[in-house]
Parts: sequence; C-alpha cells; structure tokens
Amino acid sequence: MPQKYDVMAGSDHTSVNTRSSTQQLEVDDNLPKTTSEYADQLTVYTKSLSSGAGERYLGQIENGRRYHKFREGCYLLPNDEKENERLDIHHALVTCAVMDNKLFLSPIENPKHAIDLCTGTGIWAIQFADIFPDCEVIGNDLSPTQPSLVPPNLQFIIDDVESDWVYEETPFDFIHARYLAEAIRDMPRLLQQAYNCLKPGGWIEFQDWDTHPYSIDGSIKGTGIEQFYDVVLNAFIKQGFYTHPGRDLENWFIDAGFVNVHVKKYRVPLGSWAKGEKNKQAGAYNLMQYEEAIEGGALAVLTRYENWTPEEVQVLVAKARADARRPDVHVLFDFYVVWGQKPEK
Ligand SMILES: C[S@@+](CC[C@H](N)C(=O)[O-])C[C@H]1O[C@@H](n2cnc3c(N)ncnc32)[C@H](O)[C@@H]1O
Repeated sequence: MPQKYDVMAGSDHTSVNTRSSTQQLEVDDNLPKTTSEYADQLTVYTKSLSSGAGERYLGQIENGRRYHKFREGCYLLPNDEKENERLDIHHALVTCAVMDNKLFLSPIENPKHAIDLCTGTGIWAIQFADIFPDCEVIGNDLSPTQPSLVPPNLQFIIDDVESDWVYEETPFDFIHARYLAEAIRDMPRLLQQAYNCLKPGGWIEFQDWDTHPYSIDGSIKGTGIEQFYDVVLNAFIKQGFYTHPGRDLENWFIDAGFVNVHVKKYRVPLGSWAKGEKNKQAGAYNLMQYEEAIEGGALAVLTRYENWTPEEVQVLVAKARADARRPDVHVLFDFYVVWGQKPEK
C-alpha cells in the first residue's frame, strides 16, 4: 500500500514526524490543456484566500449564513462559501451548458478597458481577463469574495453600483453584468451611468434571468416550487427589487440610448427531464445551483421583512427542493443575453 507524505510547499522534501524521504511528484494526466483553463483550476485551489484588505468587509453571520458588510443590508443574498460555490456552478451553467462555451455575445475586438459589474466570485472577469491580456479589467462588488491569485490585468474593487460612478474620466470599451435579478433597485439609472461611462462605439452586455418559473404542461401547479416563488418573489418585489430583469433589458437598453440592441433568449430546464444532452446538462447544473439558491434567496428577505422564522423558511425550502427532483415536474426558467452599443457620435 503506498504511503502518503505531506509535501512542504517550495521544497523537494517531505516529512512525516522524524522520517524523511523524497516524494516523486507526478504530472497530473488530466491537466487542462489551455492556459486559461489551467488558471481557472488554480483559482479553484486558492479560492479560500481572500485579500487582507477586504476581510473586514466580509460581514456578519445571521441564521447560519454570512452577509455583506459594505452598505450593509442592501443585498439580501449571502456572500459565504456556500453561496460562492453556487455562483461558480451558476457560471458553469450559463457559459458551458447554456451559451455554448461563450462568455459574451457582443462583437468586441481588442478591448483595452472593461468592467464586470457585481462580479460575485469574479470567475467571469478572470476568464475574460485571460482571453484579453492587453485589456485592463475591473470587477466590482459589495463583497470582497474574489480570489487573490488573478491575471495581472484584472483588479477587483469593493463598490456599490447603485451609487454615483467614478469611471467617467476613464470610459470603458466593454461593460458586462450578469445575474443582477434580486440585486438592483434602479436599473434605468444603472444603465444611464453605464452609458455615460462607455466610449462611443463601445459595447454593453447584460445577461439575466426571468426568475419566475413556469411549465408548459402545467406540472408546476400545486408544487412547492410554485409556492416558494410566489412567496419569495413577492417579498423581493415589496423591497423594490427586479425579479425578471431579463425580459425588460431590451427596453431599458433602448431607453438608455444604446443602439444595435440584440436579444437572445434561452429556455433553461430545472432538472434533467427535457430531451437532448444539452438540455439535460443545463437542467442538471441548474438543479444543483437551485438547491443552494433557494435557501440563500429566501432566508434574509422572509425573516427580516415578512416575519417568518428560520424554521418556517426551511420547511418552505425543503418542499421546493423535493418537488424539483420529481420527474413529473417540468419547470423552466428563461435566461436572456442582451447586448448593444453606444452610438459612435
Ligand atoms: C447573483 S450574484 C451574481 C454574481 C456574478 N455577476 C455572476 O454572474 O456570477 C449578484 C452579485 O451582485 C452583487 N451586488 C448586489 N448589489 C450590488 C451593488 N449595489 N453594488 C455592487 N454589487 C452588488 C452581490 O454582492 C453579488 O455578488
């Protein structure tokens, strides 16, 4: 039976108690083939490192979940490890299973300055910065939950995108935001600020959900999923958040002054009930992130504003989880990618 030794970082020695020997390190046969995929793998292993400067903004624990500290209370989902893992699964869902391995659909060429608004774990911004090493990329968020080992052309900053922006002096070639449903209270103002901070001819792309689930065959009726979304989305709407930004993006873009506006809508199943490999993969990823999302999404809004106890929330969540695993329940969500351009003049 092979013996296991601890490897000391930066050394070719290993030691277990007083015994020492030289461990043979083998190259992993399954290493990613490209630099950018390899960088992704590296960030997975260093994800728990957070920048010392940001740690004090990580926030307080409430009902077992951690929430952001900067502008405390304005965003109602957690920022803890569980949520970050969910966001990375969500990233895989959108890029790999929904958008055919694309990070964006805008026809950008050789951007020099780009921003990812509300970057979350920063996974999208890291991949974007890898693809365009000559582009200075910023990722901003209320929470400093991004890794510290990132491409040299990428910077993460703590910022509130609903406050006045400070980027007008250094406008962007590309502005990107994904999954701001239940996060933003004034989307027209956000888009106006984005317009002002984009270079003439620059592109903007928002990718977002309609978080209202539906079924074509009526199988959502009477399920815990339907009950969960009725209760939780109404609570978010009462607090002033958008719950279906995806379907409004096109009009918001046009009202803000963007031209060449394009819309692509994807139907994403919940679970692997739909025919076809691509649908099954998307549905499986979606179910994985949904099972985490529903607890994180419901706890703060229902306990802080709707007088629910945490235990009552857990019962609601358990029923929504159980019904999503039923093969006779065929739920879908719509996901939108909308991109447009600031006029040249
Ligand atoms: C659902 S997550 C999406 C994260 C990321 N865009 C992605 O697609 O993986 C929403 C993110 O928006 C951030 N957020 C919410 N309100 C914000 C605000 N006013 N300013 C900056 N970030 C905000 C949250 O901290 C969270 O990381």
